[in-house]
Amino acid sequence: AAPGTMPAEKEDYSVTNHEVLPLLGQVADSVSQAIAHARPELAGADPLVRRSEHADFQSNAALGLAKRARTKPAELAEALTAAVSGDRGPITRVEVSGPGFLNITVPDQLIWNQLAARLASPRLGVGTPNEGQRTVIDYSAPNIAKEMHVGHLRTTIIGDSLARVLGFLGVDVIRQNHLGDWGTQFGMLIQYLNEHPETTWHHDELEPGTSAVSALDELYRAARALFNADPDFADRSRQRVVALQSGDPDTIARWKEIVTESEKAFRDIYDRLGVLLIPEDSVGESFYNHLLAHVVTELTEAGIAVESDDALVIFSEEVNGPDGNPAPLMVRKRDGGYGYDTTDLATIRYRIHDLKANRLLYVTDSRQALHFQLIFEGARRAGWLTDCIEAAHVPYGTVLGPDGRPFKTRSGGTVRLMDLLDEAVARARAVVHEKDPDLPAEELDRIAEQAGIGAVKYADLSSSRIKDYAFDVDRMVSFNGNTGVYLQYAHTRIRSILRKAGNPEVAIDPTIELQPAERALALELDAYGTALTDVSETLEPHKLCGYLYDLARDFTNFYEACHVLNAEEPIRSNRLALCQLTARTLQHGLDLLGISAPERM
Ligand code: ARG
Repeated sequence: AAPGTMPAEKEDYSVTNHEVLPLLGQVADSVSQAIAHARPELAGADPLVRRSEHADFQSNAALGLAKRARTKPAELAEALTAAVSGDRGPITRVEVSGPGFLNITVPDQLIWNQLAARLASPRLGVGTPNEGQRTVIDYSAPNIAKEMHVGHLRTTIIGDSLARVLGFLGVDVIRQNHLGDWGTQFGMLIQYLNEHPETTWHHDELEPGTSAVSALDELYRAARALFNADPDFADRSRQRVVALQSGDPDTIARWKEIVTESEKAFRDIYDRLGVLLIPEDSVGESFYNHLLAHVVTELTEAGIAVESDDALVIFSEEVNGPDGNPAPLMVRKRDGGYGYDTTDLATIRYRIHDLKANRLLYVTDSRQALHFQLIFEGARRAGWLTDCIEAAHVPYGTVLGPDGRPFKTRSGGTVRLMDLLDEAVARARAVVHEKDPDLPAEELDRIAEQAGIGAVKYADLSSSRIKDYAFDVDRMVSFNGNTGVYLQYAHTRIRSILRKAGNPEVAIDPTIELQPAERALALELDAYGTALTDVSETLEPHKLCGYLYDLARDFTNFYEACHVLNAEEPIRSNRLALCQLTARTLQHGLDLLGISAPERM
């Protein structure tokens, strides 16, 4: 055998385990072993392996470690090459290039076997590396009696996708919809309803298609206007708050009614978006009410919350507020009331102590960054949040309108989510119809809904989470570019190829030589689990979007370069297997983004 090449007869790459280790990991292990073998003092160093354009993989370890090894990168690279080649790992060829890169090629047979094992697995060979972890994901969290706005669209979509990805990786996910269902505003709402029984605000009383929250939003506005204009009404509203907080049965009943009606409208949105949130996930602010006094006592006794100006406050030891003084958390207001800050101190305590979560995620817009920083600091000082628990704010940017300013209606009001979704579906309907005018109306409706909703979700998920992005419906529903519709369409094209072949059960012949375009596609397919772990670690769903987009492009290149349906056996079967695995991976990945993948469009 040539130097750096292993004799072929020694290879046995049968992959039988349910979990299929990605080649990247296997190669990284080999390089790690080579490092430990060639330079024991460097054992444990990062092998720095990644996919490469020049070979299957590339390791930069020699460049990174040469200094520590007191040698030149090229020399270390040679030593590592020799060590890798002496090993029976997955590597078939190593070449040193440039100043000391290791270009690594893996055997075709191993690649085919990886694909076969993934095809045979209902989970595409992806394991459950995060089993044993429990993560609370706080997302959506709209406010009762107010319209859900575009900001709530983002938290709902991002949080849901994280719940799906983490759940798939084995995390025990607890979804928490922290509804804004408590506070002084309920005093005026209840009082207004009591005094204006003729108000139309029940979900079922409305014409189909109009969301009850609009009516509740109207109620909110009317009550607020009266509250501001009429001091007597304001007084009666304040007394109503007292009645609510002291548990007066009629007042509580009214409050529950308002919450229920509002939730019905949220449910319309959730159903339409196809998010995982169910009524049991609604654990709103009111739930923490009975815990607040205890939380406050605990913080006061520990000396963390202190009196200031008749209020009870936690002053940060880490951050200053805009005025240059230690940033405050309001634990108890001067009037004795508890607010948003107190409730979130209670959520974090509850989620750690009662739900026993070891990872807490709060998906809200980036303007709440300081709030959560202070909550986490408070929880650490109180001893609730320890080093073995991760608490993270998962912030996101603002949705901008076509004018590049925060998205508002022309009259400056909040954009109703239902209207946005309707518009996206209507636009999707037009482009799908244009592409395939023969689609029966009923099917067109169904596909337009899947494409339109998918487009909105994908546009949101595919942009870097923290950045603002412009809500541009025409771009979202385009068949070209990095869009949900493009990926859905890519999936349908592959399904159609498979249908033409009669959806056969194919077996892979691993002895066939891989063509370059097949190889690129195969290596991308093998990296699906890696992309998911990346999402779990960075909490960035756009990484999964990027992966699926690359996969679709690799498929296009493959399909342009290689015949499938009229190839000869066994090549045809191998290529059909590539088609199948690509279709399944696209479908699965879209599902983890909460996007459906129609069979045709
Ligand atoms: N209801 C809040 C809002 O609309 C979001 C709540 C987020 N969750 C939390 N635990 N603070 O901005």
